[in-house]
Amino acid sequence: MDHYITVASVSEIPPGTGRTVDVEGVWIAVFNLDGTFYAIDNACPHAGGPLGEGKLCGTDVECPWHGWKFNVMSGERVGNPNFQVTRCDVRVMDGRIEIRLPVELQFPSSS
Ligand code: FES
Repeated sequence: MDHYITVASVSEIPPGTGRTVDVEGVWIAVFNLDGTFYAIDNACPHAGGPLGEGKLCGTDVECPWHGWKFNVMSGERVGNPNFQVTRCDVRVMDGRIEIRLPVELQFPSSS
């Protein structure tokens, strides 16, 4: 899949918040940092916790299950960049948030 998918309107994700969205069957966590949107794989690499439901503190999201923190811009775990979540390209078009899945998050059947 090399195209952008609309996942929400800008007004649905206020600054300082995030949510989980479905991008063609893949759960992605989207965050609004002062009007700029970032998207990462929703699955925490520790045990699969839903990062889109985590608390956003500055540029970091805290996993709601066991508290690991990730920088939503880089995808790196805070204090241990050996753990990372995959980032997605995000753009805003006419008030809509659009996401493009990287190859590593696409299902084999996606095109
Ligand atoms: S599943 Fe995220 S910290 Fe454990």
